[in-house]
Amino acid sequence: MFALNFNNTAMHIFYGKVALIAYLKTIKTTNSTIGFVPTMGALHQGHLALMQRSLKENDDTVVSIFVNPTQFNNPEDLAKYPRTLEEDVKKMRGLSDKMILYAPSVEDIYEGKTISQDFDFDGLENQMEGKFRPGHFNGVGTIVKRLFEIVTPTNAYFGEKDFQQLQIVKKMVEKNHMPVNVVGCPIFREDNQLAMSSRNERLTAEERKEAAIIYQTLTEAKEIFKTKSPEETLEFVENSFKDNPRFELEYFVIADESTLLPIENKINDKKYRAFIAVFVNSIRLIDTISLN
Ligand code: PAF
Repeated sequence: MFALNFNNTAMHIFYGKVALIAYLKTIKTTNSTIGFVPTMGALHQGHLALMQRSLKENDDTVVSIFVNPTQFNNPEDLAKYPRTLEEDVKKMRGLSDKMILYAPSVEDIYEGKTISQDFDFDGLENQMEGKFRPGHFNGVGTIVKRLFEIVTPTNAYFGEKDFQQLQIVKKMVEKNHMPVNVVGCPIFREDNQLAMSSRNERLTAEERKEAAIIYQTLTEAKEIFKTKSPEETLEFVENSFKDNPRFELEYFVIADESTLLPIENKINDKKYRAFIAVFVNSIRLIDTISLN
């Protein structure tokens, strides 16, 4: 264990699971709760909001920072993913010095076998991110399961920007009978409504400004969907991006919120959600909005 001291306060930082597990044993009591916020670092307001919620709702909060190689289908994306541990520690300390940070190496997690387990998420994995990023959700399932086994959280906090991931983690917990309550938290947005993401760091100032088109298009699509069909809504979105050569639309999908299956027709009393993935100069951004 390493305790980084700044101004007489200490934050517990662990780089290895054995020491973390031993430490957690010393602080756990029969009724105490552990909140867990898994992240890949490059922390932003959205992550800090998850931590704040965990701090409020639990006796102890563990945060992990680990850029998980098995969930990247694109080696360039993995290589360029921002790694800013020192800055991240400062941001966490700015919030509270009471959190416990687990920042493992690939070896500590994968023990020489950096491969994913195969999961069956009842089809939730086949659409959108799963379709365009083959193997992604097996990688997410593998790391989240392993982290849950190490941290043994009572509550685990995930952002709704990755709505499909959130549903998949809930499914994994249910199928594996894991004693974890998975909590979905609202998306945090920048001033221009761009969904906060660690990948935003890679955008130029101009791209970041113009990326407002993503959420703007989603909100317009939501309005259109009130009176038009899913197909007409999709046409509107495709046309919006055709006029903007800087942005390349990878997908826009309107899906049933519980099955994540794309819909052709609206059925009353079903909950729908729109999902979008857009490339800006090879940087991939996603967003989502509830439609009703
Ligand atoms: O959402 C993320 O940052 C990652 O997918 C997660 C949940 C930390 C697993 O690596």
